[in-house]
Amino acid sequence: MLQSLDDQIVFAPRWPASPFPGLRPFRVTATEDESLIFYGRNRAKDEILARLNSSHLVFVVGPSGCGKSSLLKVGVIPALEAGLLTHAGANWRVAEMRPGDRPVRNLAYALAELRTDAGANDVSDQIYDVLCSDENGLWLVAETLAPRAAPNPLLILIDQFEEVFGSQVAAQSESKSLLELIVAFWTKAHPNLFLVVTMRTDFLEQCANFPKLADAINATLFMTPVLRDSEIKSVISMPPEPYHGVVEEKLAEAMVKDTSSEIGYSPDHLPLMQHALSWLWNNAVSAAGLSKSPPRPDSTAPSQAVMLTHDRYVTHGGLKGILNKHADELLAGLSDREQRIAQVVFTRLSERDENRYRRSPTSASALATLADCGAAELERVVSVFSDPSVSFLDRRPLANEAGELIDVS
Ligand SMILES: Nc1ncnc2c1ncn2[C@@H]1O[C@H](COP(=O)(O)OP(=O)(O)OP(=O)(O)O)[C@@H](O)[C@H]1O
Ligand SMILES: [Mg+2]
Repeated sequence: MLQSLDDQIVFAPRWPASPFPGLRPFRVTATEDESLIFYGRNRAKDEILARLNSSHLVFVVGPSGCGKSSLLKVGVIPALEAGLLTHAGANWRVAEMRPGDRPVRNLAYALAELRTDAGANDVSDQIYDVLCSDENGLWLVAETLAPRAAPNPLLILIDQFEEVFGSQVAAQSESKSLLELIVAFWTKAHPNLFLVVTMRTDFLEQCANFPKLADAINATLFMTPVLRDSEIKSVISMPPEPYHGVVEEKLAEAMVKDTSSEIGYSPDHLPLMQHALSWLWNNAVSAAGLSKSPPRPDSTAPSQAVMLTHDRYVTHGGLKGILNKHADELLAGLSDREQRIAQVVFTRLSERDENRYRRSPTSASALATLADCGAAELERVVSVFSDPSVSFLDRRPLANEAGELIDVS
């Protein structure tokens, strides 16, 4: 965000309200730039930039919850926009999408949003038709939105690509079309278009059923490593510093120990750690009587630092205890009937198969049917768990019909 100060131009960073985002991925919005509180991923970011230097397609895969979406949204994309991919310049436009219920429709919507000179609906219909009718659709759309003659690179981020295999897809043929579009783009890339796809490693097996897709993945794979202990330490201790906050050394050490994955990766650990930090932060801000105006880097420092303490972490049960406590607090605010609805919702959204946890995004109307409740009742329950200060649940519009797709964060 640029501000004019006399005749000088100065950068006004959009500091997020809190140094920790909680359960959801880091993101950049019009008012908050979470790249300012993002640490631990320089190595992975540089490696993905190096891949993009020589390939227009990169498949970023990794275990569930290891930080793939965050790495792209607040690591790689801001680096591209800062001009770090030198041969492409800094004038990037970015279309970000998740397959959701209509993989190709949602891709068309994301691309249409880049056009400001025409009605978004008309443009998205045209883009959708091109993507559906020609396997080189991505090349053709790129040539219109980012013609070779102009030096304006375009990035498409397909996040949570594994959703193409999910039961929420309303038009299965669109899943196949999206795979084919990616494969064709890999064979014939457009010089101004770059495509980054994130996917959980669990789904590599399903990709192998499509030999050409498997070839493309083999050639463009970036395996996201889990954070190393030294990196975990920095993502715990660094973000609060500009917010006049301090994490006790003993707390940082205990959390590194509880999050570390050398013995066996647990997909819950990083989200649980991030949630615990966000909860401890809010708790410490309240305890210091600062909840009405929490400390921000761009405002006056409080008279004493906000302390995140080992004692509070242990008293509230560590990573898992804090999540359970937070969930219990939210449930306690609901009636018995609403609690039952919440139970149906969470059971549906985080199904396990073969002991493996997987996201199962589901439309609000299907959830209401499952929970045998009305839309307004469901809305009340979902809004409690999707509130920005809680973010247990994520919600986004459906492409196929009016309504929403609900997902765990
Ligand atoms: N570098 C980081 N520092 C601190 N927390 C992080 C970092 N990267 C991710 N997280 C946190 O870890 C959790 C999972 O992050 P994210 O959603 O980006 O992972 P993912 O690999 O995309 O997950 P999924 O497999 O569900 O798509 C979130 O709570 C996020 O805030
Ligand atoms: Mg993700």
